[in-house]
Formats: sequence, C-alpha cells, structure tokens
Amino acid sequence: MAVIDPLVISSGDVEILIRPARPEDAAALNEFNRSVREHRDGRSADPETSNATMAAALGDITSDPQRLRLLAMHANTIVGAIDFVSPSKLRTRHRGRLGLAVAAAWRGRGIGTSLIRAVIGWAGSHPYLRKIRLSVPAENTLAFGLYRRLGFIVEGTRRGEILCPDGNYDDEIQMCLWVKPGPDAVESDPASGKK
Ligand SMILES: CC(C)(COP(=O)(O)OP(=O)(O)OC[C@H]1O[C@@H](n2cnc3c(N)ncnc32)[C@H](O)[C@@H]1OP(=O)(O)O)[C@@H](O)C(=O)NCCC(=O)NCCS
Repeated sequence: MAVIDPLVISSGDVEILIRPARPEDAAALNEFNRSVREHRDGRSADPETSNATMAAALGDITSDPQRLRLLAMHANTIVGAIDFVSPSKLRTRHRGRLGLAVAAAWRGRGIGTSLIRAVIGWAGSHPYLRKIRLSVPAENTLAFGLYRRLGFIVEGTRRGEILCPDGNYDDEIQMCLWVKPGPDAVESDPASGKK
C-alpha cells in the first residue's frame, strides 16, 4: 500500500501538511486541477473527470504499492499535489515518473521542493524502485532549475513535443534521479557478475 506518514513543513509563516490523497479528497482535487489547467499549467494536472471517477482512482492508488499521490494542504485547502506512477512489469517496475503542480498563489515557498523530497524519500526505501523520471518543457527554466537543484540529471531532449499558445513547438527535457545505484554502479560491482 503506497502511503507515507503525514509530515508538516513550514512555508514562510504558515504550516503545510503533506499527506497521501484519499478518496474523500476527490472533489477538492478536481477543483485544484481545474485551477491549474486554467493557468495553462495543464501538463501537470489530471484530465477533467467526475468526482466519482477521481474517488475510485484515489482508492486504487492507495492500494497500489507502486503509486503515490501526495497533497500539500493549508488548513483544508489543497495548495499542491504530486503524483508518482510506475509500470507493473518486472522489467520496468524499478522506474516511475512524477508530475506535480503547486497553486499559483503558493509557488516559490518551498512546497514543490518538499513534495518532491517526500517522493524521493519514499522511493529510496521502496523494495524495488530505483529511478524517478520526469519531463519538463524546455521553456520552463524555473522548474528545470528546481529539479537540477534536487539532483535530477538530463537524460535527453524530445524535439517539438509541446504545442505552445503562440503556435510554436517547444522541446521537452527528460530528466531522472537514481534513488539507488544506477547502471554504472551495477556494472562496476564485481558481486553483480557483470563486467
Ligand atoms: C514548478 C513548481 C511545481 C515548483 O513548485 P514551487 O512550490 O513553486 O517550488 P519551490 O518553492 O519548492 O521551489 C522554488 C524554486 O523553484 C523555482 N520555481 C520554479 N517554478 C517557480 C514558480 N512558478 N514560481 C516561483 N519559483 C519557481 C524557483 O526558482 C525557486 O528556486 P529557489 O529555491 O532557488 O528560489 C510550481 O512552481 C508549479 O506548479 N509551476 C507551474 C506548473 C509547472 O511548471 N509544473 C511543472 C511542470 S514540469
């Protein structure tokens, strides 16, 4: 079951609770996603869905050991959300990807950093997760800088992946963070039996 113990962080002069999303958060999470989409930050938000569908999805996530969805709460309001999803196949379940968004009025106060760190900590103690992936539009230099500071490295660039409001196509940068030793470390480990 993918859940973590709730944690409280200080963001400026207020406290923010970071906790797993629950089915009863469905309506509020839909509202949060709507507001993120309205600010044209749509790649980080879920597509429009009914509250019942969202509640069912949140229930499924709670019982899936490879998925994690955390909310950043101020009082009873969602101010940020992060989602981690991973394939179930044996050959690929060591990796997963995350997406996140923080409410426009709450950005630049450490909430995104804390959400990502919470996922990194969870993945680091997970029995088989090793690699966290994400993608970021090349023009999103603020988010790119944040991921770099948290240790993510660039794996590559997909050209013209994103249609911008001005009609141009933006590149998308693929980034990753190894939370446990990656391929280089495995290859240099004599005990692994590999050269
Ligand atoms: C990117 C995002 C999730 C970061 O969350 P956040 O809570 O604002 O980030 P933090 O406060 O923890 O970190 C702020 C740092 O990130 C950078 N940053 C990234 N986006 C920022 C934004 N929109 N406003 C302010 N700072 C931002 C700042 O440079 C800051 O760096 P610093 O610590 O050196 O001052 C959030 O700004 C957001 O939701 N943006 C819109 C959606 C988006 O871009 N999602 C990511 C798509 S890949």
